[in-house]
Amino acid sequence: MASQNHKFQIAPSMLASDLSALGNEIKMLESTGIEILHFDIMDGHFVPNITFGFPVLETLRKKTRLIFDAHLMIADADRYLEDFKKAGCDWLSVHVEACPHIHRTLQQIKKLGMVAGVAINPGTSLDALNGLLDFADFILIMSVNPGFGGQSFIENSFEKVRDLKKRIGNRKVKIQIDGGIKKENIRDAVLSGCDILVMGTGFFSYKDYKTGLNELCLEATR
Ligand code: DX5
Ligand code: ZN
Repeated sequence: MASQNHKFQIAPSMLASDLSALGNEIKMLESTGIEILHFDIMDGHFVPNITFGFPVLETLRKKTRLIFDAHLMIADADRYLEDFKKAGCDWLSVHVEACPHIHRTLQQIKKLGMVAGVAINPGTSLDALNGLLDFADFILIMSVNPGFGGQSFIENSFEKVRDLKKRIGNRKVKIQIDGGIKKENIRDAVLSGCDILVMGTGFFSYKDYKTGLNELCLEATR
């Protein structure tokens, strides 16, 4: 999935998949060449919704070797980091708004052998990342308020990405964007500097995932 100078990856957000047939969904995604599966972990406390837990991740882990990218929208994430590792997660992102000792949390995620991301809400300034860019593997810019799939993209999010890219400078920190990404704005997402595009409804609205992925990649690099 690369074109010219723009390299990017699409990470389907499993929340928008057919939850009654997650194993099959993953098999179908595997056959398209998708490499990353994004799991939205919500606790009904940090965000007003509840989604997947460890038994679901563990079960799916046995079915695939694709990268499990867990986006933790939970309170007290520190308490569960090891459990996420045991459940088979490869990447873990934690919210700057939910982690009082985020520097320690990031160190712990890495110590457990996972890739560490910092997620930041639309209403939080990039200044909250000061001092963290040397310790995170990626930054997740939320382009909707966390809690639900299928919401509308918040328009100034690509400006935030551009600003973040400047702040990252020559560090090897990747930028992930999450919320309301679809065919209509995928090109702008890539041009603004996003490396990983999380897509829920914008991806799973395609009946055939291979066709959808091709169409999205073409549009992104048009
Ligand atoms: C929102 C989640 C997103 C969401 C994306 O809290 O973090 O990953 O499921 O879904 P769409 O792409 O439909 O906005
Ligand atoms: Zn997410």
